[in-house]
Amino acid sequence: MDELRLKLAVQKSGRLTDPSLDVLVRCGLKLSRGKDQLVGYGENMPLDVLFVRDDDIPDLVQEDVCDLGLVGLNVLEEKRLELASRGHAARFQTVRNLDFGRCRLSIAVPQGASWEGAASLSGRRIATTYPFLLERYLGERNIKAQVVTLSGAVEIAPRLGRADFVCDLVSTGSTLSANHLREVETVMESHAVLIRTPLKLAPEKDAWVERLLMRIDGVQAVRESKYIMLHAPRSALAEIRRLLPGTESPTIIPLDGAADRVAVHAVCRENVFWETLESLKKAGASALLVLPVEKMLT
Ligand code: PRP
Ligand code: ZN
Repeated sequence: MDELRLKLAVQKSGRLTDPSLDVLVRCGLKLSRGKDQLVGYGENMPLDVLFVRDDDIPDLVQEDVCDLGLVGLNVLEEKRLELASRGHAARFQTVRNLDFGRCRLSIAVPQGASWEGAASLSGRRIATTYPFLLERYLGERNIKAQVVTLSGAVEIAPRLGRADFVCDLVSTGSTLSANHLREVETVMESHAVLIRTPLKLAPEKDAWVERLLMRIDGVQAVRESKYIMLHAPRSALAEIRRLLPGTESPTIIPLDGAADRVAVHAVCRENVFWETLESLKKAGASALLVLPVEKMLT
């Protein structure tokens, strides 16, 4: 592989795969990838995407196999604690918190089992793929319990008699309910993060990292943003500005042949709901138009 191409690791198949690729596409990346291929080639950027197991991403960046990685904070923090337990410091650097992949690492109990708070864990067996985060949680609460480390399929451990409780990731909660488990306690909140190698990169590569970060910021800034256009009497401007959600300074444009009416154009940093449009209309606005914002560079 070309030394001057960035290598970015992404989860091969899982909750983060689609939203990770979606961000990259929104950043302008055209990726060509054959079926089942583990490397996607960036056609219009010197950036290749490696599809790997999410648990391997911190190591790949830590060991400088990849320059960048998109991974859950949960995986990252688990790795950080694991490295610390062996006397190593984490070398990967978190460069962005991302607005997708929200989930939590939680304790869940079999439906019907009694639960009186974290003390109920005392002396019991808890199955997890996150032993270090769980041990920290237990340690902070002075709870002595047995951590059963599994490499997957944690949710079936209670049914198999391997554990009393589980500590697993919950996103929609459907995995838990399909396995008759009840979420009782949050160990950690998580979302996707972008990490990078601490190594100094060649200037060409570094410049592309900077460009990518700027574009990611642009993508995240517009996710909820809307462009709103409307006509209004000048006298209603103050009220209309008050009603527009999350706008800085709207553009006011005179309307041809109507001295007392203007067009107002504004970027709203929040979604614009029907209720807002109805209030704007009540305040005197007409010809209301709301458009999605595709890109923003500030
Ligand atoms: C997690 C977790 C559950 C599922 C929960 O897996 O292990 O299986 O997500 O999601 P739900 O609440 O929406 O049902 P993840 O995608 O992180 O993959 P991995 O654990 O296999 O790496
Ligand atoms: Zn995983």
